[in-house]
Amino acid sequence: MQKRSIGQSALNVHPIGLGCMGFSEFYGKPTEEAEAIATIHKAIELGVDHFDTAEMYGMGANEKLLGKALKGTRDKVVIASKFGIGRDRKTGAVTGLDGSKASMRASCEGSLRALGVDSIDLYYQHRMDPNTPIEETMEGLLELVSEGKIRAIGLSECSAQTLRRACAVHPVAAVQSEYSLFSRDIEDEIIPACQELGVSLVAYSPLGRGMLTGQYSREDKGLSASDYRHTQPRFAGDNYADNLALVDVVKAIAVRHDAHPAQIALAWVLAQGEHVLSIPGTTKASNLTSNMKARSVVLDQDDLAQLSILSAKVKGDRYGDMSVVNR
Ligand code: ATR
Repeated sequence: MQKRSIGQSALNVHPIGLGCMGFSEFYGKPTEEAEAIATIHKAIELGVDHFDTAEMYGMGANEKLLGKALKGTRDKVVIASKFGIGRDRKTGAVTGLDGSKASMRASCEGSLRALGVDSIDLYYQHRMDPNTPIEETMEGLLELVSEGKIRAIGLSECSAQTLRRACAVHPVAAVQSEYSLFSRDIEDEIIPACQELGVSLVAYSPLGRGMLTGQYSREDKGLSASDYRHTQPRFAGDNYADNLALVDVVKAIAVRHDAHPAQIALAWVLAQGEHVLSIPGTTKASNLTSNMKARSVVLDQDDLAQLSILSAKVKGDRYGDMSVVNR
């Protein structure tokens, strides 16, 4: 599959990258370092050239891991990271959102050190700060661009209105948002704004945080005790079984294609247009190898029609507290 450009920036990547969050936090215990590094090396071997991390994932641990694993491959890959979510160093609790210039600069310096690089290719504001105008944040980001500390600017989970204001200051290369067969609310305003403004959409959780892979059963969620998905609305209570019933549609299509359900979910995301990139998360080389095969799955009109009705039937919000997204 051809590379896709990231907005109007000079960056080009293959449409399936690697979301690295799960190596360090949120989806159960951190992956053993050797296994994580082996998975990242496998990704490079398979042609993955877009690695997504954030300052907040493992409070620097995820960036350190990625930096260590990518040593010696700097010119082959695009590294994306994010700033703007403050955390208590002791408890890990989120302390607030900060898009101020001073905070962004301190975060960027820390991320550069953790990653062991001179420049971050794509640097996102992770969540929009209600107390700092986006124009001010963009000015700070532009200073980092002019100093060579970052190459392109991204916004994660912004509203269409914020994106328009940001682009009036300087082109935004990418918006990162949750986008999958189960999460299509951004099609109303955000994707049209991206298309109009020449901004790429980087789809995170394209596998519905794993649910669309068909690996979970009604009897057993298969999640470890520390996995945050126990409290995620779509995995919680009665929603879980109702949502799993929708995954049966994906499974049936997978059988027809002699494919894995995850490949169907990813093929759907990739079919949404040249401006869409995806960063499925996996900690396992075997799942990564399988996911990459989604590039050769071609969905037909009948598949697309069956898949198109799923998102409207999904039970539960994307987050327990939706107030921090699409600002
Ligand atoms: P996120 O962007 O939040 O990481 P996602 O990409 O929608 O979310 O889904 C990630 C989840 O899907 C992870 O729990 C991952 O588990 P592993 O680390 O064990 O792989 C799971 N996942 C990814 N690809 C998979 C596959 N091919 N089969 C089964 N599970 C898979």
